[in-house]
Amino acid sequence: MAILEGRNLRKTYRLSKKNKVEALKGVEISIESGEMVAIMGPSGSGKSTLMHLLGLLHSPDPNHGPAPELYLGDQNVASLSDDERTKIRARRMGFVFQDFNLVPTLTAIENVLLACDYAGIKGKAAREAALEALGLVGLADRAGHKPAELSGGEQQRVAIARALVNKPEIILADEPTGNLDSDRSAEVLALLRQFNREHGQTIVLVTHDAEVGEACDRVIRMRDGRIRDNGLRAAAPAMAVDAVAVPA
Ligand SMILES: Nc1ncnc2c1ncn2[C@@H]1O[C@H](COP(=O)(O)OP(=O)(O)OP(=O)(O)O)[C@@H](O)[C@H]1O
Ligand SMILES: [Mg+2]
Repeated sequence: MAILEGRNLRKTYRLSKKNKVEALKGVEISIESGEMVAIMGPSGSGKSTLMHLLGLLHSPDPNHGPAPELYLGDQNVASLSDDERTKIRARRMGFVFQDFNLVPTLTAIENVLLACDYAGIKGKAAREAALEALGLVGLADRAGHKPAELSGGEQQRVAIARALVNKPEIILADEPTGNLDSDRSAEVLALLRQFNREHGQTIVLVTHDAEVGEACDRVIRMRDGRIRDNGLRAAAPAMAVDAVAVPA
């Protein structure tokens, strides 16, 4: 079953009356529940914009032609209010952003606790969950460190702990390994794969790294605001009996 399904997704950024960028030009995408999918494509092709739509951070443009549709399970979420989107996001989705997006004045555990707070989980239950999530990414002993007191890879792992803490059904990660060396990158990838296998979480990640793409179940390729290849193999056509060459 598809957990995320989008049709006619367009997004135009208008900088002025004359200056606009068509970042998404009509995207159709379908992500199955429990899949770990990579989105790849050149810089500027619309990957982050698409992630923002899939993660309900931004709304698709209301089209002149066919209306945009975005289904989360069987609910059309394309035209929900900001409030409703925020609620769904906090409870059902976890994000790892391209630039980590940690709050510099907060410690690792406080950064993770923010995600609990957004989902309405507070007090002791939240602290326990935050510590558990930091433990899962191997950072229990760094809970009191602020981002500047952590390495790049550790900051990335705090961001992942924050994305995982509420055990969301869907994890959206925008270049989760983009700023990491190859060892750390493999570690983060293994961690995401572990969550995917053990908890059946659906993971959509953006990457420029072909090896990361290969480690996923499927690679969706974007170019110039469109999906160029959705990575699905066409079902092999049933072979007609009379088409089989019979050796003479
Ligand atoms: N807030 C914005 N305002 C105006 N234009 C934007 C904005 N965000 C993105 N764009 C433009 O939209 C296009 C798609 O951007 P997007 O960030 O989705 O690309 P990307 O595929 O994630 O690239 P990268 O691999 O460099 O992260 C680019 O041409 C970009 O310049
Ligand atoms: Mg991007």
